[in-house]
Amino acid sequence: MGGYYCLFHFVLVCFLLGIHGSHSMNQTCNPTDLEALLAFSSGLDWKGGRVVGWGPNDTACCSWTGVSCEFGRVIRLDLSNRSLHGVISFAITLLDGLVTLNLSHNSLHGQLPEGLGHLGRLQMLDLSMNVLSGMFQASEGGFPVIEVVNVSCNQFRGPHPVFPKAMNLTVLDISSNTFSGVINTTALCITPVRVLQFSGNEFTGEFPTGFGQCRMLADLSIDGSSLTGNLPSDLYTISRLKKLSLQENQLSGSLSENLGNFSQLMHIDLSYNMFSGVIPDVFGALKRLEFLNLATNLLSGTLPASLSSCPMLRVINLRNNSLSGEIAIDFNMLPRLNVLDAGTNSLSGHIPPGLMWCTELRTLNLARNKLDGEIPESFKNLRSLSRVSLGGNGFSNLSSALRILQHLPKLISLVLTKNFLGGETMPMDGISGFKSLQVLVLANCALSRFSLGFRGWRASECWTFRGTS
Ligand SMILES: *[C@@H]1O[C@H](CO)[C@@H](O)[C@H](O)[C@H]1NC(C)=O
Ligand SMILES: *[C@@H]1O[C@H](CO)[C@@H](O)[C@H](O)[C@H]1NC(C)=O
Ligand SMILES: *[C@@H]1O[C@H](CO)[C@@H](O)[C@H](O)[C@H]1NC(C)=O
Ligand SMILES: *[C@@H]1O[C@H](CO)[C@@H](O)[C@H](O)[C@H]1NC(C)=O
Ligand SMILES: *[C@@H]1O[C@H](CO)[C@@H](O)[C@H](O)[C@H]1NC(C)=O
Ligand SMILES: *[C@@H]1O[C@H](CO)[C@@H](O)[C@H](O)[C@H]1NC(C)=O
Ligand SMILES: *[C@@H]1O[C@H](CO)[C@@H](O)[C@H](O)[C@H]1NC(C)=O
Ligand SMILES: *[C@@H]1O[C@H](CO)[C@@H](O)[C@H](O)[C@H]1NC(C)=O
Ligand SMILES: *[C@@H]1O[C@H](CO)[C@@H](O)[C@H](O)[C@H]1NC(C)=O
Ligand SMILES: *[C@@H]1O[C@H](CO)[C@@H](O)[C@H](O)[C@H]1NC(C)=O
Repeated sequence: MGGYYCLFHFVLVCFLLGIHGSHSMNQTCNPTDLEALLAFSSGLDWKGGRVVGWGPNDTACCSWTGVSCEFGRVIRLDLSNRSLHGVISFAITLLDGLVTLNLSHNSLHGQLPEGLGHLGRLQMLDLSMNVLSGMFQASEGGFPVIEVVNVSCNQFRGPHPVFPKAMNLTVLDISSNTFSGVINTTALCITPVRVLQFSGNEFTGEFPTGFGQCRMLADLSIDGSSLTGNLPSDLYTISRLKKLSLQENQLSGSLSENLGNFSQLMHIDLSYNMFSGVIPDVFGALKRLEFLNLATNLLSGTLPASLSSCPMLRVINLRNNSLSGEIAIDFNMLPRLNVLDAGTNSLSGHIPPGLMWCTELRTLNLARNKLDGEIPESFKNLRSLSRVSLGGNGFSNLSSALRILQHLPKLISLVLTKNFLGGETMPMDGISGFKSLQVLVLANCALSRFSLGFRGWRASECWTFRGTS
């Protein structure tokens, strides 16, 4: 049986290789395509070298590096990551059989040739990671069958491109350019787009309505623009949304209870905005949530207890808001938690002992709150903890805290600044543990005997992590 399967497999592989060979090996290519490729090549400076073909004496262009043909026509050009310098020649628009064009990860500059949108078969365009500039507006009817567009990390400017005729557009990544103006959801949502990555541009105006019409949208990222206003209600109707990232805008208003509609949501980042009001306690509906970042807003009220119902959570970041009340989350329900950052709020009460169940916890920041009590004995279980910041609270019993925390094998930095104001003493029996510790800050702890070295390390510098971790 096994032998039969292997033989079958062998034959199948030969068959597939054969097909592949007849497409792309030594066939002579269409003379128009050959001419176009040579003209395209003359606009380039091939610093990378090590390519096959691409010279005037080699007419078998279908076997050139990066070229694939079908029936003698060039259908695919992939010269990504080949240290290309120079401009994209107009000649590329003559390759009218082209289905895939990948020139990403080079140093191409200049404007896109006019007429690129006339490539009537082009489905995939990847020009990411170059220094291309100028406008990139798909003209009316341009790129009629495009499906994937990635022009991220260039210097394009002007209004963002739209592809209203492209009924199969699924991915549009224009991040890290200087596109500006308003976002035209009407044009974008005509297509069945799944991924819209618009981060790192200069969009202005109110957060647009109309994304609700993007029925297939799973990933919407518009970080780092200047969008204002509240999140419109139709946004909350995108039932397939997995990732919503709107970090660093000027969005305001309160978050809707309809957040609970995002049953597929895995990643939400609304940090560095001006959202206010309470965090709606609707996380029970977000069973897949892994990443929650609402840091640096004006949110008030208590921590949403329903976060206990998100078993996949890895990151909770609520730093620098005005949250108050006790930390009433069942951490034993969050076994995957890596990062808990609720620093710089007004939380009160004790550190919840249930935190001991988060054995994958690496970063804990509860600094600058109104917490009190002692560090729970159970912290000994947090074997992955590497950064702990508890400064600026009312914790007591330093000697007990150090006795417990010295057992954490991966602890790199520990900041306990401004606590233990009862005039406590360093433990006399010493701290022999702390195997990995590089930074220990106990400044302003009103110790009556002595304090350990302050290495000029400020908590605010160390807890500023943005994006995924
Ligand atoms: C392609 O290669 C095969 C074997 O290497 C050779 O027999 C054939 O003549 C070549 N065809 C062309 C068009 O160069
Ligand atoms: C191309 O062919 C011509 C004539 O055979 C020859 O002089 C020239 O050196 C060749 N160029 C390259 C790049 O091989
Ligand atoms: C283009 O090429 C790069 C580098 O080889 C690759 O990572 C990327 O996935 C390709 N783009 C598309 C859309 O397939
Ligand atoms: C580009 O090529 C280099 C070396 O050839 C390789 O290490 C790197 O992973 C490639 N990058 C991409 C995005 O394919
Ligand atoms: C969209 O994709 C379908 C299925 O692959 C295809 O039949 C259709 O022609 C495509 N339409 C456009 C405008 O690309
Ligand atoms: C676009 O290209 C960049 C750089 O090559 C890559 O990191 C990014 O993942 C791509 N976007 C999409 C949506 O695939
Ligand atoms: C948005 O795009 C549609 C379709 O391309 C167009 O009719 C409309 O004028 C655009 N709206 C704005 C504000 O540019
Ligand atoms: C979103 O949630 C609200 C209230 O929970 C509900 O009225 C609305 O119909 C929901 N919308 C969708 C599209 O599920
Ligand atoms: C904390 O939030 C306030 C108000 O939202 C903001 O002005 C301040 O810059 C933030 N601090 C940090 C360290 O991000
Ligand atoms: C600190 O905690 C230890 C037990 O961990 C206890 O023996 C000691 O009395 C406490 N000290 C103070 C000042 O509360």
